[in-house]
Amino acid sequence: MIETAITRAFGLATPIVNAGMAMIARPPLTAAVSNAGGLGTLGCDISPPERLREMIRETRAMTDGPFGVDLIGDFVTDAHLDVLIEEAVPLAIFFWTLPTAAQVARLRAASVAVWMQVGSVAEAKAAHALGFDALIVQGAEAGGHTRAEASTMTLFPRVRAMLPDTPLLASGGIADGRTMAAALVLGADSVWCGTRFLAARKSAAHDDYLSRVIAADVGDTAVLTAYGPEWPDQPMRVILNDSARAALGNEDRALAEAAGDTAGTVEMDGARVPIPAYSAILPTRDFEGDIEKTCLTAGQSTGNIAEILPAAEIVRRMTEEAEAALRRVGLPAMKAA
Ligand SMILES: Cc1cc2nc3c(=O)[nH]c(=O)nc-3n(C[C@H](O)[C@H](O)[C@H](O)COP(=O)(O)O)c2cc1C
Repeated sequence: MIETAITRAFGLATPIVNAGMAMIARPPLTAAVSNAGGLGTLGCDISPPERLREMIRETRAMTDGPFGVDLIGDFVTDAHLDVLIEEAVPLAIFFWTLPTAAQVARLRAASVAVWMQVGSVAEAKAAHALGFDALIVQGAEAGGHTRAEASTMTLFPRVRAMLPDTPLLASGGIADGRTMAAALVLGADSVWCGTRFLAARKSAAHDDYLSRVIAADVGDTAVLTAYGPEWPDQPMRVILNDSARAALGNEDRALAEAAGDTAGTVEMDGARVPIPAYSAILPTRDFEGDIEKTCLTAGQSTGNIAEILPAAEIVRRMTEEAEAALRRVGLPAMKAA
């Protein structure tokens, strides 16, 4: 049994949290992680408040466990916060853009814990000053959007030394029990895993996307800013498919050449919508089109992920392997917190 400040705060059986991945961490994945004894989180991404409310209710119908909601700062409105408070969600996680002090205070006054994911020492300092309940430290190996200034192995200890008393989650490159044990040894109170749960059975990713995650090795991703006319110039780590390779070192020209081109279509709010070339909209299960033209965001840990597994099995294996790894180096599995 690995016990930490995060397991105690949410009554978890193990300190594993799935990243609230845009378009991928939908109610089935979130509930599966919470039901397995970890902490599930839902990706709100660019969903409007009422869609967020539906997803929260769908999740609650599938689990009695606690779960969180991940919000991308640029797209959060006060109406999203109203939903979190009205639906009594126990945890809100912010990414990319700091919320205002008033938003943090409002959520905490309503008993919603508030976390922020950061990727640099400066961002960690700014977030700490706002008074979050915990910070997620994202290293540069991570999948999804990332502007992390150093790898998990380098950035995490730096932030831990700066904030010795703040609950911290390690993010980026953690995909099995050995990497989880390493994060705990570095002083993490939990791991926050995206790519490992992207490759889970209840992830909302298209089968061809999942096949690429399984096939890619540790060197088969790169950070590009080409993706997302919806949210331009944001760095994102992607698996190198044909369109990503065409943009490597050549982003403006690749974008100009692909202008007007589409990658395919996905279902959104009951309608089929086209995905422009170099869109950040991910190929979800209902995607139809050319996977080589889509955004296949994933972390470097794709190279350490060999199979699609049920989320509960991921949580069980990671926990057992982490306990064994800690014993192997002579550390008790029960972490003194
Ligand atoms: C498919 C995918 C989508 C993501 N979407 C989001 C998101 O919407 N919000 C967010 O906070 N982080 C998002 N991330 C980043 C994760 O929060 C986290 O930093 C990252 O997954 C950690 O690295 P790992 O992928 O090696 O586990 C995403 C990551 C992936 C792989």
